[in-house]
Amino acid sequence: MWKGRFGEETAEVVLQFTQSLDIDWCLAVYDIAGSVAHARMLQKIGILNEEELKLIVQGLLVIKRDIETGKFEPAIELEDVHMNIEKRLIDTLGPVGAKLHTGRSRNDQIATTMRLFLRDRLLTLGRSISILLESLIDRAEKHARVIIPGYTHLQQAQPINLGHYWMSHFFSFRRDCNKLLIALDSLDESPLGAGALAGSTIPLDREFTAREMGFSRITDNSLDTVATRDYLLDYHYFSSIFSLHCSRLAEDLIIYSSQEFGWILLPDAFCTGSSMMPQKKNPDVLELVRGKTGQIIGHLLDLMISIKGLPLTYDRDLQEDKRGLLSSLKTMEGVIGVLAPLIARIEVDEQKALTGLETGMTLATDVAEYLVLKGIPFRDAHWKVGQLIKWCMQNGKNLQTLSISEWKHCIPDVEDDILGIMNLHSSVSRRKTPGGTSFSNLEVQLITARHYLDTFRNDMKKYKVSLFPESLDTETISN
Ligand code: ARG
Repeated sequence: MWKGRFGEETAEVVLQFTQSLDIDWCLAVYDIAGSVAHARMLQKIGILNEEELKLIVQGLLVIKRDIETGKFEPAIELEDVHMNIEKRLIDTLGPVGAKLHTGRSRNDQIATTMRLFLRDRLLTLGRSISILLESLIDRAEKHARVIIPGYTHLQQAQPINLGHYWMSHFFSFRRDCNKLLIALDSLDESPLGAGALAGSTIPLDREFTAREMGFSRITDNSLDTVATRDYLLDYHYFSSIFSLHCSRLAEDLIIYSSQEFGWILLPDAFCTGSSMMPQKKNPDVLELVRGKTGQIIGHLLDLMISIKGLPLTYDRDLQEDKRGLLSSLKTMEGVIGVLAPLIARIEVDEQKALTGLETGMTLATDVAEYLVLKGIPFRDAHWKVGQLIKWCMQNGKNLQTLSISEWKHCIPDVEDDILGIMNLHSSVSRRKTPGGTSFSNLEVQLITARHYLDTFRNDMKKYKVSLFPESLDTETISN
């Protein structure tokens, strides 16, 4: 369609090399939605009459149906999804079809198509993530009273409640949801009307097409419009951090479900066996969640590096933005699709979770803080408790079962009330600073979490899901 000024046919290798159909054909319906909006605008400003608009819209809807039913085989000589659809329209309608591309370039067209596509997929992803968040809330409620070791440096540090642990992942995923909303907001601008790079001499009504496609605003600068891929980078940044969080969660669960820890019980349906060792139950699902993180982050770097040296405005390098995006979305959907139901079915061996905690050593900070509340400077208290721990280890003693005379022998400042707090339950319930692991704080976190989930779902409702204007009956297509 651009051969007017050329003196010879495009070489076959060039056709193969430059085509993007293997990757952009799946965007066809979004491209058609953009074309319908554009055509309706052209009629509004008098470039098309009503009859021409009707023919074009009908023609586009027939093409949409033929694509959906697999009847339309795109031709690689026509490079990409845009030219295949336009050529088909011109072949069916003749000169009327040739009016559609008025005031438009594939440069603003692809930016529009990609934003429509990504909006759809991000809303689907957001809904799946909200199910993952629900699973975490559900486990936190179920395990609200279960005590487990909390770790730093993967060494037992202080007792915590398992509900608090699940909520820690909820709150990191909450930040990801906010990033997803930022990505949705960032794509919520209509590029259509920027043309190839500089706008148009035809008085296009950009606000009209934006409304038709459900964008809340139009882009401000035509050069930036066709050059930027920030709306994709925002998605990739969100997905990278999200997958990091999934990976850390997966790693924890792999460790906690190993024989050496053994207190997290993974559902059989979400584990795999060994072809040789009959006893094995392996956490392959979680390992793959962890293992797929690299690809997702890789796609962020891929696009950043592709864009880094590009002169404004559009360059064909940008065509390569799709491969990573599609792959990343597919991986993300897979990860969330398996992680949410896996979490929902995790059980815990409460007895086994106490392994190691029974020596009472993780209560050492509690003793130091007890002394501080009796007026002893923290550093002195830390030293005294350190000495106490050394004495306990040398004499095979347990902090939870020391007699009051043993306490006073090691730390004369201790009073009888120490005995009442030397147990795991008291340790957890007394950590009442906001955000701490006490059982009462968990209730507060759960209220915050449920409220956030509602807000997140409502925020996503602001974005349009339907691709075509309601007035358009996309089902009734005459042949
Ligand atoms: N297929 C291209 C892409 O995906 C859009 C076409 C723009 N091509 C051009 N030569 N100006 O980015």
